[in-house]
Amino acid sequence: MTSASPQLFRMLLGPPFPQLIVLAILLGLIAFSDALNNGVGRTPAMGWNPYNAYLCTTTEAQYRAAAQSLIDLGLKGLGYQYVNLDCGWQGKTRASNGTFTWDAAQIPSGVPALASYVHSLGFKFGMYSDGGVFACDFVGGTAHYLGSLGHEADDAKTFASWGADYLKVQFCPTFYVPGL
Ligand SMILES: *[C@@H]1O[C@H](CO)[C@@H](O)[C@H](O)[C@H]1NC(C)=O
Repeated sequence: MTSASPQLFRMLLGPPFPQLIVLAILLGLIAFSDALNNGVGRTPAMGWNPYNAYLCTTTEAQYRAAAQSLIDLGLKGLGYQYVNLDCGWQGKTRASNGTFTWDAAQIPSGVPALASYVHSLGFKFGMYSDGGVFACDFVGGTAHYLGSLGHEADDAKTFASWGADYLKVQFCPTFYVPGL
């Protein structure tokens, strides 16, 4: 088989410019392998999200404990790098200047302090918002956690300034708008 291959190639490619065609194929393969070796998406985003354990009731203490558990269980060493917030961290009204707020009962130290703690353990910090006026909740849309509708760019900047490395955006959209 191996000795037949050159003849097969000559037959398939033929004159007049087989070398050019082979070169083009090789360049194409190099470009293709570059695209696959850019480091993006080699694993899913690996980390901890509280929803399955706590729905929308996760406390700051539970977030901190979970981050420590990722280390204690050896998961950090296996590539679990995110500690993410999920629903219930948000405030219910914006600050008077329109800035997003957190619920001080759920996150007493505040989101920036929690983000710093997560970073200090060597993890990335993920946040959560929603594309609606209000976010998803577990009480039929009546919790009225803040969503980001109409504030997307400002909220993204706010979350980044608080230390977010990742943002999960859910869509519990217009049917949570009062009156619709
Ligand atoms: C808006 O107000 C909050 C406090 O209520 C403050 O932390 C924040 O820096 C203000 N943002 C701007 C853009 O002035």
